[in-house]
Amino acid sequence: MSFYELYSFQNYSFEIRNIKFLVSKTKLMKQIKNIILKFPQIYLYYKKLTYIFLAFSSGTKEKNIFQEASTTEYDRHPDLFNFLKSRYSDKQIKILSFGCSSGEECISLNKYLPNASILGVDINKKSLAKAEKINSNKNIIYKYCEPKDIYNLGEFDVVLAISVLCKHPEAEYLNNLSKIYPFKRYEDMVHKLDSVVKQEGLLIIRSSNYIFSDTKTSNNYQLIKNNNARKSKAFPKFNSQGLKKTDYFENKEIFKKNIT
Ligand SMILES: C[S@@+](CC[C@H](N)C(=O)[O-])C[C@H]1O[C@@H](n2cnc3c(N)ncnc32)[C@H](O)[C@@H]1O
Repeated sequence: MSFYELYSFQNYSFEIRNIKFLVSKTKLMKQIKNIILKFPQIYLYYKKLTYIFLAFSSGTKEKNIFQEASTTEYDRHPDLFNFLKSRYSDKQIKILSFGCSSGEECISLNKYLPNASILGVDINKKSLAKAEKINSNKNIIYKYCEPKDIYNLGEFDVVLAISVLCKHPEAEYLNNLSKIYPFKRYEDMVHKLDSVVKQEGLLIIRSSNYIFSDTKTSNNYQLIKNNNARKSKAFPKFNSQGLKKTDYFENKEIFKKNIT
């Protein structure tokens, strides 16, 4: 067998192994999901423990934490980042990434908007330490921040809250979210975020369990259309009483502050 044949054979078997792994992983995930659906209470207790642990390790209160999981990735939201690039190009704007996790969102934003000053805040000290460890960019700063400290962060042209104002995946298994995440907590947080958005600035909220237009704060904003937005995705949404809505697709995400 020639080197090339051996190489492509190895690649081929590597891919087969990968596909097998993915299939068995998907099967396993399905089985886990089935078990969860049978015993959602047990899963919710398990999730509760993860919140208690994060609150303890970050020295904060559990009620200050929205989404606990720190899942993130580079260039996770190209449609939003491209929108910001087309709007601000090389302007020296200020951006707040609320719930920046380990920094991939801030680094990606910097690639699209190299002249922007980016502040990433999070409630998870471990994620922030990871973000700081790899940061050598003078345009990106990270900070630990509890909801009450938002007022001290300054003012921003753009505030992003992506995959933060939610309880994922718990919300998928609940018809009433109020017990673990009441609407008021969302509304108060949105109000705090509004306080740091400049006049004419943007507030961008993606993957949240509540709907921005249900808040009083939304009266100060107008919806902005992103012509190149990604295909709207189903995401569990709840009304202001905490009751699940059916068939809600998320497509209202960019809001411009417009107080007259
Ligand atoms: C799923 S990650 C989202 C990361 C990033 N925004 C993205 O979309 O890739 C959610 C992050 O929100 C953070 N978070 C939860 N509650 C927060 C709060 N009150 N203030 C700041 N960050 C918070 C979590 O610690 C976690 O890092």
